Amino acid sequence: MKEIVLTGIKPTGTPHIANYFGAIKPALEMAEKFDNNFYFIADYHALNTIKSAEELKKHTYEVAATWLACGLDPKKVVFYRQSDIPEVFELNWILCNLTPKGLMNRAHAYKAMVQKNEEEGVDSDAGVNMGLYNYPILMAADILLFNTNYVPVGQDQKQHVEIAKEIARYFNNKYGEVFTYPKEIIRDEVKTVPGLDGRKMSKSYGNAIELFCEPSVLKKKIFSIVTDSSLPTDPKPTDHMIMELYKLFASAEEVKELENKFKAGIGWGEAKKILFEKSNEYLTPLRDKYNEIYENKEKIDEILKSGAERARSIAKQTLKKVRIAIGADRE
Ligand code: ADP
Ligand code: TRP
Repeated sequence: MKEIVLTGIKPTGTPHIANYFGAIKPALEMAEKFDNNFYFIADYHALNTIKSAEELKKHTYEVAATWLACGLDPKKVVFYRQSDIPEVFELNWILCNLTPKGLMNRAHAYKAMVQKNEEEGVDSDAGVNMGLYNYPILMAADILLFNTNYVPVGQDQKQHVEIAKEIARYFNNKYGEVFTYPKEIIRDEVKTVPGLDGRKMSKSYGNAIELFCEPSVLKKKIFSIVTDSSLPTDPKPTDHMIMELYKLFASAEEVKELENKFKAGIGWGEAKKILFEKSNEYLTPLRDKYNEIYENKEKIDEILKSGAERARSIAKQTLKKVRIAIGADRE
């Protein structure tokens, strides 16, 4: 299919299981069906939280190696690093001038920060930098620059894609049809992968299971999942997060089997052991590949450089149209 599929992941930490099932895996499945895929590492989005050069570099290589280990084929997918595409930042500025401040006031990351400050009785803008405030505009630039049709993301990014659509509408209404309207693609079954404490898995909650941690760490994390003090013979709720996580790794048949055990009564330790074994079996070949790719940073650099060249050749065409539309073309 000809439509354009684009998605990005911020290198703000080591990728975790929810990043894989919520974003990477669905995006790679889409790449099999579509001919034009743009997948990138949103490193300038990460600047918001990462203020150490060393950390930014490390997480950028981790995210790149994760995509490649999980099966991204850089010959097929245009795979690049956001900061290698200066056109994104030029478009970002142009879009800033069309975006009402009120729209940014409603963006959830900013709103959540303001609410937290108010609850704590401090200045409502404490700790808010302009990068956080303008975040959705930069994301709109990422998306609109490539005439994106579909954006595979997790539920938490829905609002951002809608904002990108809104900004495209402002532009097109003012200057004529330049931008394509993007649509988010969210998989129902992986809308929100739970973390170790039952809340949404997130780097920022400290409840994540790193995708490629060593088996001993994986085991320790799984065994730290919160459970109650019911007896092994007591039936267990089949919507418990052990079951939710198991569903990600196991076949439908295996899920049914474990559900039956939950209904009949199973010790939490036994349930955790089953989850550990299944997830480790699933992750081991990917982990091996990841470790090999991560060691070869030159190769990663080469892949990203060639992806950036391909991405820029498209980006330049869109930006030219934009410049003509706004009256800033150079010819
Ligand atoms: P984090 O919350 O850990 O910082 P990111 O915001 O970097 O994760 O998310 C990267 C991608 O992974 C996004 O597309 C996001 O929607 C997806 N994702 C993150 N956490 C989850 C989750 N718990 N369930 C499903 N998808 C998720
Ligand atoms: N905001 C996204 C996240 O936090 C990352 C991102 C940046 C993105 N630009 C994008 C995702 C463009 C999809 C499309 O996960």
